[in-house]
Amino acid sequence: MSIKKHDHAQWSSSFGFVLAAVGSAVGLGNIWKFPYMVGESGGAVFVLTYLVCIALIGFPILVAEWLIGRRGQKNPINSFADVAISENKSSAWGIVGGVGILAGFIVLSFYSVIGGWALNYITKVGTGSFVGQDSDAIGTTFDAMLAAPGTLTLWHTVFMVLTALIVGVGVTGGIEKAAKVLMPLLGLILVFILGYNVLNGGFAEAVSYLFTPDFGKLNGDVLLAALGHSFFTLSLGMGIMVAYGSYLGREVNLLKTARTVCILDTVVALAAGLAIFPIIFNHGLDPASGPGLIFVSLPIAFGDMTAGTLIGTLFFLLITFAALTSSISLLEPSVEFLEERTSMNRTMSTIVASSVIWLLGVAALLSFNLWSEFTIMGNGIFDILDKVTSKFLLPLAGLAAILFVGWQLSQDSVRRELGLSDGAWSLWQIVAKFIAPVGVLIVFISSLMS
Ligand code: PHE
Repeated sequence: MSIKKHDHAQWSSSFGFVLAAVGSAVGLGNIWKFPYMVGESGGAVFVLTYLVCIALIGFPILVAEWLIGRRGQKNPINSFADVAISENKSSAWGIVGGVGILAGFIVLSFYSVIGGWALNYITKVGTGSFVGQDSDAIGTTFDAMLAAPGTLTLWHTVFMVLTALIVGVGVTGGIEKAAKVLMPLLGLILVFILGYNVLNGGFAEAVSYLFTPDFGKLNGDVLLAALGHSFFTLSLGMGIMVAYGSYLGREVNLLKTARTVCILDTVVALAAGLAIFPIIFNHGLDPASGPGLIFVSLPIAFGDMTAGTLIGTLFFLLITFAALTSSISLLEPSVEFLEERTSMNRTMSTIVASSVIWLLGVAALLSFNLWSEFTIMGNGIFDILDKVTSKFLLPLAGLAAILFVGWQLSQDSVRRELGLSDGAWSLWQIVAKFIAPVGVLIVFISSLMS
């Protein structure tokens, strides 16, 4: 969720801030991406690696990004550069913020395509298309959507326009109020689907699939996928959390707040896994079927349960909402950048940024149909945009943030800012100076070798 300068006072309560950060973090990454990555990357071994990455790498980097933002009080590029200069370090650190803005720009292009799928499914579920349908028919519906460039473009456009309107008009205040009601409602529906699964079978199998790791499946690819996803899901490496930090009051406890955000984000992802995999196993679907996973599994349950049309419609509506609170946070940095660095006003900046992103999104969605032949090393445009950001840009920008806080800033000031006692401070230093950066490097190297 984007925060305006004039909203500063609002963030003196850390609740509003947590809400904004959770709004950005919880989105399609948790409900759409996490389950299919689990399915593609060997089940529980991915889940376990992902949890370790969140705790030892994502968490400290989240703290580092907020800390830089709170000190810098500016956009990500200037926050990095100014904080570096104030510590007699090179202003070239500003480049990290620039990489982040570029990454957010790319992520939004394909994010909006998936947001469009969710919008399209509101209408499909809402008109009862899936009632009484078997899994084959539901799979065919999904494949037909992917094969139709016009349909994909239409819904991608609607999603992008909604995002641009919210950012351009700056109605984030209303979005925050809505988020307070709608995000918990999304949680409630997930719990409801869990209940349905417990009653309808496949639940025990799903639990063991998600939580009993087969370490034979661990390799560099799984590690890199888990690491990349931990950045994606916490909105790290894109300057977004740096920007949010710049609106944070001094009194907010960074470590506690980061813990809350990490826990909430993880709980939603795991709940989404438990909502989806029982249906997959119950209906003999393939867990490794990729980005379509939630769209071919959940409609089976909605088509089968009492009041499924209503619950399913609500579910896709709420996912769309969760996606919008993330997508506005993805668009904001590009818009702010144009607004500050060019002569364009806010409206113009929003139109220009979202048009270019929209165009890139169209190229991404064509890779599902007309341009499916065009691949680089086996990856279509959609996959390339996803992989370049999740597996390279985000981890590298995150690595830079933690190296900056761990090795470049005066450690006394960091300690004061985090308010840590002796023992906790030693632990923080071990994690921030060594475990997190070395972890990112090991994952990179092992993925190059596997
Ligand atoms: N974290 C969001 C999600 O999980 C996606 C996102 C990534 C949002 C990066 C903002 C920045 O859906």
